[in-house]
Amino acid sequence: MSTPRPTSAPGQPGPSDRPDRDPDDLTVAPDGRPAREQPAWRREFPIDWSADEYVSRRAMMRFMTLTSAAFVAGQAWLAVSTAVKGAEPAVARRAIARVDELAIGGVRVFQYPEGSPPRLLIRLDATRFVAYDQACTHLSCPVVPEPKVGKLHCPCHHGWFDIETGRPLAGPPRRPLPRVRLAVEDGVVYATGIDPAGVA
Ligand code: FES
Repeated sequence: MSTPRPTSAPGQPGPSDRPDRDPDDLTVAPDGRPAREQPAWRREFPIDWSADEYVSRRAMMRFMTLTSAAFVAGQAWLAVSTAVKGAEPAVARRAIARVDELAIGGVRVFQYPEGSPPRLLIRLDATRFVAYDQACTHLSCPVVPEPKVGKLHCPCHHGWFDIETGRPLAGPPRRPLPRVRLAVEDGVVYATGIDPAGVA
């Protein structure tokens, strides 16, 4: 509750009579009774400038407290939401090619999991393979691997991605290509999961 501001009774010397107070700063309630006897609504909506500013400060503090609480709650919700979204749904491991089926620089289009949008398996050298979504992260045009220059090209708006990491290099794309994790065992390339944010 607010501390009532002093008012002067009619005909009595009050704070407004003090030489150090601005006479415009204090007024007297219409019924002449002191502030503590005034109804709550009059204390909440005072007619004194000083009391009015006091209420404004209090209202501002309340507003700031509520705003801060809402901000903290929003950040907490965002953190939880991000953690939940970042939790990658489990995708079963699946064989997608035999090593000897792809020459160095060769490319295979595959689906992982079955029925998903197309993804690209690219053989970089004798031992290394990479795999990405085929859809450009700008406006989803299909990207074209260009292993000789170490890039993937999106012809729609001339976006370029690094073939080793999937990171955008030039043009409109700002996000890396989602990457499929791979494992090579016994001459077989397996897809083992999807990294939606691309490579770290
Ligand atoms: S859709 Fe690929 S650069 Fe625009």
